[in-house]
Amino acid sequence: MSNQIYYCKPVFRPPSEANSLLIQLTEGCTYQCDFCMSNLNKRFKIRSVHAVKRDLDTARRIYGQNIRRIFFLDGNAMVTPTDTLLELINYACELFPKLERCGVYAHSKDILKKSDEQLTQLSEAGLKIAYVGFESGYNKLLKAVNKHATKQDHIEASKKLMRAKITLSATVINGLGGANNPEISKKHAFETADLVNKICPDDDRTWYIAFLSLMVPPGTKLYEKKATGDFQEMNSTQILQELKVFIKNIDFENENANCIFRSNHASNYLPLKGVLERDKEKIIYVINNGLSHQENLRPEFYRAL
Ligand SMILES: C[S@@+](CC[C@H](N)C(=O)[O-])C[C@H]1O[C@@H](n2cnc3c(N)ncnc32)[C@H](O)[C@@H]1O
Ligand code: SF4
Repeated sequence: MSNQIYYCKPVFRPPSEANSLLIQLTEGCTYQCDFCMSNLNKRFKIRSVHAVKRDLDTARRIYGQNIRRIFFLDGNAMVTPTDTLLELINYACELFPKLERCGVYAHSKDILKKSDEQLTQLSEAGLKIAYVGFESGYNKLLKAVNKHATKQDHIEASKKLMRAKITLSATVINGLGGANNPEISKKHAFETADLVNKICPDDDRTWYIAFLSLMVPPGTKLYEKKATGDFQEMNSTQILQELKVFIKNIDFENENANCIFRSNHASNYLPLKGVLERDKEKIIYVINNGLSHQENLRPEFYRAL
């Protein structure tokens, strides 16, 4: 009987799942975005139900029955057939009676492939949060980085999750358009704000928008483009200015909206946190402060994914 849980390394998980039990359900990702390392040295697969259950059993032996959160790895675990996901979530609930939520990374297209009914079944079983990479609301940029999703896909996928009562936690990449063309940065910020405005629900549920700042890791397509000079990274000033355009253009009709905004990931120059759009002015104040006191920004060598 093994006492080790299987992981296909390197392991990527959202910062907010730091204390969760991580269970490898898929390996790699079925997409291949230009900026992402998820597929480096990995070949996509969905692990067998038997192998995943064995890891859940092992976790139960190691950690006991008090696990409250599980995050199913890897890059787009939502691609897993609904029946398989349901079987595994139900099994986890039996092993861990105090389980409060399961979470996955989800590409918008994988959400759209599931029906409202399937998403509701998953939600009722225990899938309570999905981390969706928007990256941008600007279609030209989404296409340029091979995201294989449009702004409209992100809007529809977000609404589908919300209808099923699965919490949306979306990420946007600051600086994704690069420094070659300032028009792209403006459009990226403006269109992303418009996307976020359009998905704002009309109730007071909690949902999350997190900004990461672009890193260009070796092995990615973007790294090659940077090496040939086809892509130029933005500096911290350009990144913060882009973020300011995004914040300024947030305009929710629902004044009870509870959209938690964060840019406190290790890739960011300036940690920011607030509720959109209630804290708009405060966030802009902190960004302006960062712009005029660059010595307070996270140094380049401390930035990481
Ligand atoms: C492991 S991915 C999973 C998301 C999910 N597969 C999707 O595409 O919707 C998590 C997120 O990390 C962010 N990310 C990945 N590579 C990045 C990079 N090089 N720089 C900044 N953020 C990055 C993106 O926002 C990405 O959506
Ligand atoms: S960002 Fe998401 S969809 Fe794109 S390659 Fe990475 S894990 Fe896959």
